[in-house]
Amino acid sequence: MNEDEKMSLPAYNKNILCIGAGYVGGPTMAVIADKCPDYRVTVVDINEERIAAWNSDELPIYEPGLDEVVKRNRGRNLFFSTDIAGGIKSCDIIFVSVNTPTKTYGEGAGMAADLRFWEKTARQILEHAKSHKIVIEKSTLPVRTAQAMARILQSGADGISFEILSNPEFLAEGSAISDLEYPDRVLIGSGSTEKALHARDILVDIYARWVPRERIITLGIWSSELSKLAANAFLAQRISSINAISALCEKTGADVTEVAMAIGLDSRIGPKFLNASIGFGGSCFKKDILNLVYLYRFYGLHECADYWEAVVKINEYQKRRFLLNMLKAMFNTLAEKRICLFGFAFKAFTSDIRESPAITVARGILEERAQVVITDPKALAGARQEFAAEIERGEVTLAKDPYEAAYGCDAIAILTEWPLYRELDYREIYRNMRKPAFIFDGRNILDHSKLREMGFHVYPLGKPPLTDSGKD
Ligand code: UDX
Ligand code: ADP
Repeated sequence: MNEDEKMSLPAYNKNILCIGAGYVGGPTMAVIADKCPDYRVTVVDINEERIAAWNSDELPIYEPGLDEVVKRNRGRNLFFSTDIAGGIKSCDIIFVSVNTPTKTYGEGAGMAADLRFWEKTARQILEHAKSHKIVIEKSTLPVRTAQAMARILQSGADGISFEILSNPEFLAEGSAISDLEYPDRVLIGSGSTEKALHARDILVDIYARWVPRERIITLGIWSSELSKLAANAFLAQRISSINAISALCEKTGADVTEVAMAIGLDSRIGPKFLNASIGFGGSCFKKDILNLVYLYRFYGLHECADYWEAVVKINEYQKRRFLLNMLKAMFNTLAEKRICLFGFAFKAFTSDIRESPAITVARGILEERAQVVITDPKALAGARQEFAAEIERGEVTLAKDPYEAAYGCDAIAILTEWPLYRELDYREIYRNMRKPAFIFDGRNILDHSKLREMGFHVYPLGKPPLTDSGKD
């Protein structure tokens, strides 16, 4: 680039705005503020309550290490606010991290991404921008959304330029802070004009403060958008694959943990993400796969759509199968029994219950007219919201203390792999349960033979049950 060309490139100030103060926006911005003290980072949201919580001692989400990072930087170069218009005016680098749930209405309902919030944000940026902006997609979006964003932004801009970048987030809840601090890779997708590359380099420089340069991958914008969907689809596919194997293990007497270990030792397969479970949950996997399926159908690629859709179907089947196994083990009736759920979050170390398989299992148990007692170290607020009516009617009870939760119950179902569930005194728990007492370990985290010795009828996942009837 010659000097004249450099001169004509837009200048951006060092104020970063993030629109959307959720599970992605909050932690990501806290880490950027931490690593880039010369940038001023503001996180805005339409939800006043959420912003008030970000400004309080009780953050709106639980994430190990998050409190410390926020406290270290809040009021210094990290701010939380509801002034979206003011933020857009004063910040030239804008991350968009609003939610893109699955559409529940109209064309593509149940499949496509609902881009309402996202489009509203694009229009707000256009309305309030008074200087050149770099707009960065953080939310997972269908491929080619950046183009739509560019079209909206370019529709009315007067002498102002907008460069759109895709910078998908790969953090997993529960380990968000370490994922952000030590990412496997950071993707930055951009166009190929000088201006686009200039904007891209500004974002590269931000990440390069703490991420080794070789882990910052620059690529085309569509590849970047598709990589996010593809990564989540691959991860979810591994879980459905091992869960499908677990079903066969239960029929044949094989042990899914042994099979997972055996296949994971093949370096081409690798050991991670091979834990059989009651199914994957969380805000991303199902939504992103359905999004991918919608894209395939849109392009007439129905065979590929069916392939990925099966990953979601197996996941639904796994949750259902877990429930049916409980029913069968407990003499084909759960009516008037008390079932205690150990864990309600969709995974350990988070308070998030979005798409948690525990919701499906709990609803299934309620349909069988049993009572449900839920305990979880972090997700009881979510459970209270989810089952407000059932709690009111006395069908669901919440208990912080697992001993209290299991008291008088017929069965315990381990639904979230919180380490504390390994440490409990199951002898005492057994003493206080109705007999025969059952444990359904949906995460395979307990010592099954010890539990059997204590007297429990034990039903691991993807392994033979340890029970009277299982001995033959
Ligand atoms: C996921 C992706 O990992 C992350 O990169 C992306 O940015 C967002 O989606 P997250 O949903 O936070 O992150 O959690 P993840 O650790 O991927 O777990 C998802 C679900 O799969 C959980 O319900 C978990 O319990 C389940 N799981 C995971 C299994 O059942 N077995 C496994 O082996 C791994
Ligand atoms: P994610 O897991 O992707 O971070 P969340 O639902 O936790 O999703 O967070 C998304 C946030 O975006 C929510 O707090 C929501 O209030 C906010 N949001 C949605 N639309 C807008 C908007 N137009 N302007 C500002 N914030 C928005």
